[in-house]
Amino acid sequence: MVTYRGAQNYLPDTLDLLSLETAARGCRGCDLFKAAEQTVFGAGPADAGLMLVGEQPGNEEDLEGEPFVGPAGRLLDKALAAAGVERDAVYVTNAVKHFRFDRAAGGKRRIHKKPSGGQVTACRPWLAAELDVVRPDVVVCLGVTAARALIEKNFTLTAHRGEVLHLDEELRGTLDPRVVATIHPSAALRAHVDRTAAFESLVRDLQRAAGLL
Ligand code: URA
Ligand code: SF4
Repeated sequence: MVTYRGAQNYLPDTLDLLSLETAARGCRGCDLFKAAEQTVFGAGPADAGLMLVGEQPGNEEDLEGEPFVGPAGRLLDKALAAAGVERDAVYVTNAVKHFRFDRAAGGKRRIHKKPSGGQVTACRPWLAAELDVVRPDVVVCLGVTAARALIEKNFTLTAHRGEVLHLDEELRGTLDPRVVATIHPSAALRAHVDRTAAFESLVRDLQRAAGLL
C-alpha cells in the first residue's frame, strides 16, 4: 500500500504564484492526482485583496486546468457581477487542487465526489502557501469544505454563515484576514432549492465580504 504524506514535501523553496503553480503540477500528496487530468491551481492577481476558496475543481475545471470555469463558475461570475465585485481583481482557488469523482455506472460521465477530510488536510499546504503569497484582506469560503479547511474543522454553515471570522490558528501566522463563509455556488443550481433565493443570498454575502475591504 502506498502512503501519501500530503503536499508539504512538494512545496517549492521560493514562494510566488508561478513557482507554486508549477510545483503543484507534480504534487502526489494524496491519491487524487492519479485519476484526475491535472492539478487545478488558484488563479488571479498576487495582490488581490479578496480571495475566494471553493471545494475542488469539477469536471470542466479538470479538463481546462482553471478554477471555476464550469457551471458553478458561471454562476459565481454572475453573483460577483451582481455584488459589484470585479472577478479579475479576485484571487480564486479551491481547498483541494485535484478533481475527485466517481464514474457513472457503465458510462463515461464523471460524477463529483466530495473530498475526504484526509484529502483536504493533505492539500492544505497549497492553500496556506497561496494565503502567504497573496496575503488577502478578506477571504470568502464558498461552501463548508473550504470553511472546514480554513476556519474550523467542525464548521457548519447553519451556525456561522455570513459571520466575520478568523483563520484557523494554524494558518494565521502573521496573517489575519477577515474570513466569511457562504454557500457554494453549486448550492444555487440544485433542482430542489429556491434558486433565486439562494442566488440572492450568495450575492448578499459576497457584498458583505467586499464591504470589509
Ligand atoms: N466547484 C468548486 O468548488 N471549485 C471549482 O473550481 C469548480 C466547481
Ligand atoms: Fe496534491 Fe492536493 Fe492533488 Fe492531493 S489533491 S495530489 S494534495 S494537489
